[in-house]
Amino acid sequence: MIEFALSNGVKMPSVGLGTFLMQPDKAEQAVYDALKLGYRMVDTANGYLNERAVGRGIKKSGVPRDEIFIATKLWPSVYEQDGAVDKCLELLDTDYIDLLYIHQPSGNYLAGYKQLEDAYKAGKIKAIGISNFHDEKLEDLLAHAEIKPHVIQLESHPYYTDTGTMDRLKEYGTRMVAWYPLGHGDKALLNEPAFTELAQKYGKSNAQIILRWHVQRGTTVIPGSTNPDHIKANADIFDFALTADEMAAIEKLNKNVRYYNATPEQEAAYAGMKIDLDAQP
Ligand SMILES: NC(=O)c1ccc[n+]([C@@H]2O[C@H](COP(=O)([O-])OP(=O)(O)OC[C@H]3O[C@@H](n4cnc5c(N)ncnc54)[C@H](OP(=O)(O)O)[C@@H]3O)[C@@H](O)[C@H]2O)c1
Repeated sequence: MIEFALSNGVKMPSVGLGTFLMQPDKAEQAVYDALKLGYRMVDTANGYLNERAVGRGIKKSGVPRDEIFIATKLWPSVYEQDGAVDKCLELLDTDYIDLLYIHQPSGNYLAGYKQLEDAYKAGKIKAIGISNFHDEKLEDLLAHAEIKPHVIQLESHPYYTDTGTMDRLKEYGTRMVAWYPLGHGDKALLNEPAFTELAQKYGKSNAQIILRWHVQRGTTVIPGSTNPDHIKANADIFDFALTADEMAAIEKLNKNVRYYNATPEQEAAYAGMKIDLDAQP
């Protein structure tokens, strides 16, 4: 497993398990399966309402806490709420979080970011992340951030590479984590002839070729899956390497089209969406 060093020296695995849209029982099982299969990173969020189950899966796996990289995200409705970080610690049943993000550029995101900075200084989190920030809001965040973000999590896949945002953050050494690394399972992306050809050449699946491309361009991937065969395969991408020409050919598939487009109104509405974190099993 390749690891990437963050700008503060913390090591982040290049492959983790995503848990978006997983009901708690499914998330608990998938986390357990992934850790047993050698994963050492898990990605969750307040908004997924499965943090408690993720914590249970981690505990049940028996893998020592200091070998696991746990990432979660504050939902905008808690950005101004005291104790939002402690709530994550409680739900995940852990003393510290490896990477905590603010999930959306919505509401008072500067207050949310300040909570992350305070938690970082207090040793409650080991790295600070932002998610879904672009353009003006990214610039605003950077202008106000005392500690520049160690990680940005963005939609990224061969149809939407978002190289521009990565380039903008180079001066801070901010690393990228790709969400929807497999296009949320889109068959058109997975079945691109270019991937089928490379899959045949390397004896891998199309999904593995895509994930290898991400990691080789320096991006961590967090593919979501509840299928143990897929979970296993998605981390089995370290016994081959794409050539520079193959990397460049995949880069050319970029259409600059996202699967998920929040309108400014939808994005603003996130801050008003209250979630009951205590309701989850
Ligand atoms: N920050 C944000 O705003 C944000 C937004 C969205 C997602 N995320 C994070 O990013 C993670 C990844 O996103 P995602 O799970 O929605 O999309 P994804 O990882 O791109 O794709 C997941 C889909 O691909 C399928 N799949 C997984 N491995 C496969 C394989 N080897 N071969 C064929 N199909 C495969 C899965 O089905 P099976 O279960 O059948 O394998 C699932 O339907 C999330 O889980 C979440 O942690 C963050």
